[in-house]
Amino acid sequence: MASSMLKTHSFILFLILFFITVIAGRRSDSEVFGKYISISSLGLKRERLSHLHFYFHDVISGKNATAIRVVVEAPLTNHSSPFIFGDVYVVDDPLTIEPDVNSTMVGKVQGSYVVVSQGELSLLMVLNFAFTEGKYNGSTLSVFGRNEVLSAVREMPIVGGSGVFRFARGYAQAKTHSITQIHAIVEHNVFVFHYC
Ligand SMILES: *[C@@H]1O[C@H](CO)[C@@H](O)[C@H](O)[C@H]1NC(C)=O
Ligand SMILES: *[C@@H]1O[C@H](CO)[C@@H](O)[C@H](O)[C@H]1NC(C)=O
Ligand SMILES: *[C@@H]1O[C@H](CO)[C@@H](O)[C@H](O)[C@H]1NC(C)=O
Ligand SMILES: *[C@@H]1O[C@H](CO)[C@@H](O)[C@H](O)[C@H]1NC(C)=O
Repeated sequence: MASSMLKTHSFILFLILFFITVIAGRRSDSEVFGKYISISSLGLKRERLSHLHFYFHDVISGKNATAIRVVVEAPLTNHSSPFIFGDVYVVDDPLTIEPDVNSTMVGKVQGSYVVVSQGELSLLMVLNFAFTEGKYNGSTLSVFGRNEVLSAVREMPIVGGSGVFRFARGYAQAKTHSITQIHAIVEHNVFVFHYC
């Protein structure tokens, strides 16, 4: 009787040890898959806040257009509406340091915007700022946000970046500098946290 109880106890002890081993084994598997590392192991030092200032040139017609309307129409597309809900534009626009389109180019903005409102002129912006100047050359910032074009200042989130802008987060403020049927010049102030 006592010996059979001892056997049962040993068996329970064995089971407990077995499960601890299995669970410990699992934990080390998950450490292979993902683990904490130090910031310095990526060559990063500290988080800094940067302010970038540039002008965005959206040339929407003429042979040098840098923003083109993509012809994808829904059956309900209403062309008598002043704001064509559902229109998609693809852009490869220059970014310059002055409002003058011929001033120093600091990069391009590549992406698209979609007219997403039936009430006002509101755009969904999905953009990458691809910089080509100085220490920013080769780095990008990604914007995903709402642009209500007729408001004085539009604020759009910076949702990430690459190169010097790895781990970027911040916001861009866009303000129309001038606008014609052909060429819109939009001043941008970008405030972004990133590592250096
Ligand atoms: C279009 O671009 C070309 C080449 O950069 C330039 O020579 C020409 O003046 C531009 N045309 C207009 C209408 O801006
Ligand atoms: C199209 O837009 C015009 C101008 O906003 C409006 O008067 C009209 O009712 C719209 N038509 C449809 C089918 O929604
Ligand atoms: C920019 O330069 C082009 C060609 O070099 C010229 O045609 C155009 O008028 C200039 N634009 C401005 C705003 O000075
Ligand atoms: C930016 O980087 C590219 C590729 O490394 C290089 O060809 C180009 O000259 C650089 N431009 C500036 C302005 O540093």
